[in-house]
Amino acid sequence: MGGAIESLTFFPGPVLAIETSCDETSAAIVIERKVLSSIVSSQVDMHTKWGGIVPEAAARAHVEAVLPAIETALEQASLSMSDLKGIAVCNRPGLVGALSVGVTASKALAYSRKLPFVGVHHLEGHILSVLTSPDAIPFPHVCLTVSGGHTEIVRVHEPLKYEIVGQTLDDAAGEAFDKGARLLGLGYPGGRAIQEQALSGDPKRYKLPKGLSGNTLDFSFSGLKTAILRLVEKEGNNLCVQDAAASIQEAITSVLAERALNAADKLDAHALTLVGGVAANQVLRKRLKEGCEKAGLRFLTPDPAYCTDNAAMIGVVGSLRLGLGHRDGFDMDVFPNAQLP
Ligand code: KG4
Ligand code: ZN
Repeated sequence: MGGAIESLTFFPGPVLAIETSCDETSAAIVIERKVLSSIVSSQVDMHTKWGGIVPEAAARAHVEAVLPAIETALEQASLSMSDLKGIAVCNRPGLVGALSVGVTASKALAYSRKLPFVGVHHLEGHILSVLTSPDAIPFPHVCLTVSGGHTEIVRVHEPLKYEIVGQTLDDAAGEAFDKGARLLGLGYPGGRAIQEQALSGDPKRYKLPKGLSGNTLDFSFSGLKTAILRLVEKEGNNLCVQDAAASIQEAITSVLAERALNAADKLDAHALTLVGGVAANQVLRKRLKEGCEKAGLRFLTPDPAYCTDNAAMIGVVGSLRLGLGHRDGFDMDVFPNAQLP
């Protein structure tokens, strides 16, 4: 397949996609790579109260939100249930109760409308979320996937053929942002809050560790968390939150950018893609864009709306897989810890 996405056969016709793996209830309608509608109903307010995600509360919120999200997605696409030709659902990995809600809803709809359906890996959704933009996507490319649950450098040989070449040994990059934000008293989720505080901060003010050194494509963010805790304790009321936020953002984004650009160089990639919730970070986007320009590499990243969790990315992968004849049966399970296919 090597060459181009244009040579791929997508499923012809509208596909309903459902994503409920964590704390966003999302439904989307796609036709091939085109997103007709994408609804994301966030549980952030509820989880903010608890300072993080409570799995059982997340599952119950999905129960309430999933059918209204599907209805709104159909309305915004100006379609009805009878126009649908297939269903894609995220069935792995994620919180088991949360995943079960989306999977059960999709099975019921597939059964009642006699539609083909396919389970999609959440990480594959992120990796191929660049398909939601109309740009040509060259293969092979290197993908930096950075979210609340993932930090991976993936060599994408061709769509559906992935090789993880680097990953975090402990916390994910999004987790590092979230933990840093919590220690600074900025609440949950922390990535966006750190980015906002950092706008008026000095990134060189506090020296923070960047994890593993040397010629590696792996990451470690647990030392950063400990260093932030020590900094907060040491500085007390003298801590400048803006400077601390800027320094945390600097530590995380510089190591991510450096490793991803190294990987693209080592692996003769035709492009570098940036996906996942942390890809919404403006400093990281800028660093990689400039690094790619210097290296003569194409840089691709989805619209920020398709970086954080969304069903549209599940839909484009589903459309690709359904187009290749992939189908799941009504006994399809959920897999909380599944590896990338
Ligand atoms: O992909 P995502 O929505 O969910 C997972 O699959 O985990 O990613 C959520 C993560 C959170 O850790 C959040 O703090 C981070 O993405 N995030 C950001 C930004 N927006 C969201 N991190 C840094 N800068 C941002 N602007
Ligand atoms: Zn995600």
